[in-house]
Amino acid sequence: MAPSVSLLVIFSLLFVSAISGEPLTSSDGEDTLIRQVVDGGEESPLLDAEHQHFALFKRKFGKSYASQKEHDYRFHVFKRNLRRAARHQKMDPMATHGVTQFSDLTPREFKRQFLGLRRLRFPKDANQAPILPTNDLPEDFDWREKGAVSAVKNQGSCGSCWSFSTTGALEGAHFLATGELLSLSEQQLVDCDHECDPEEAGSCDSGCNGGLMNSAFEYTLKNGGLMREEDYPYTGINGKTCKFDKTKVAARVANFSVVSLDEDQIAANLVKNGPLAVAINAVYMQTYIGGVSCPYICSKRLDHGVLLVGYGSAAYAPIRLKDKPYWIIKNSWGESWGESGYYKICRGRNICGVDSMVSTVAAVSTSST
Ligand SMILES: *[C@@H]1O[C@H](CO)[C@@H](O)[C@H](O)[C@H]1NC(C)=O
Repeated sequence: MAPSVSLLVIFSLLFVSAISGEPLTSSDGEDTLIRQVVDGGEESPLLDAEHQHFALFKRKFGKSYASQKEHDYRFHVFKRNLRRAARHQKMDPMATHGVTQFSDLTPREFKRQFLGLRRLRFPKDANQAPILPTNDLPEDFDWREKGAVSAVKNQGSCGSCWSFSTTGALEGAHFLATGELLSLSEQQLVDCDHECDPEEAGSCDSGCNGGLMNSAFEYTLKNGGLMREEDYPYTGINGKTCKFDKTKVAARVANFSVVSLDEDQIAANLVKNGPLAVAINAVYMQTYIGGVSCPYICSKRLDHGVLLVGYGSAAYAPIRLKDKPYWIIKNSWGESWGESGYYKICRGRNICGVDSMVSTVAAVSTSST
């Protein structure tokens, strides 16, 4: 078999394993993904399984490295991440973990470049969302089906997750208030929002170095609103100047508040007010491919801002047929990550801190057009 053909075979095997939801690790602890590759393709005497995985990874994600030294280091990190993915698979059997675009990054690099939540708690004086009735909540709910959610965006190598969570929530609130779905500008927040935590000196929204959704709502409220994505496009770098143009404000914040930790309240606020800005611990997201993430143990240390857009009651788990309620989360790492850019995480026990920092925003109901 020609090398390119055998690579293709390996690639298809990987793909099949990814979409079928087969776990990458068998119960005997061996990495079946690697075995599968070795058994499935014609074994090359020159390349071991890890080299073949790495070659595929580089090809699939268009990776190239500046020097041989860098290449060798990235291969080293990649191998460690293969083992991490296998550990995650064991800890999180309802989801599929494996090779992602982040497989050549150390957890630290991943955190610095692709997360960006700056603080772990709300100020004490934050507005509390009123308690809502929860008796008539639908069993399944998804704002995407109602047209309240824009396409998945990509924060790139910039710790600006918080700005995407903020725009997503305001896009939804604006849709609820006006019936119009806009894509709003994260770059405006990255460049212009330097709002600080009144209780924590030096803790301010700082572009690619991190921020907090509630501070960004505060900035947006004070400052007049957010421009459209197209009027203030995303660059993913800390701009030296703020290019905010008040005459081009497209969506305004009326008020925002903190939702209680109760999962029924979170669901009720989601259904009533639109997608919610939430924080999460993203450690399992570095290796996540699909399924409902429900790790046995996950830190509640919040480090990533995302958007809660819906929930479901029965998880898709072809191997373990078991009902598992989950949240549907919009991420900001492009559509090629996770389930077309989305993450599912189980509901019920504040997994990875997903219930700990939830906020809701209301938009002013004047249309921009
Ligand atoms: C927030 O603003 C919306 C829209 O103007 C309004 O309906 C709602 O009552 C406000 N909520 C709070 C808690 O002030």
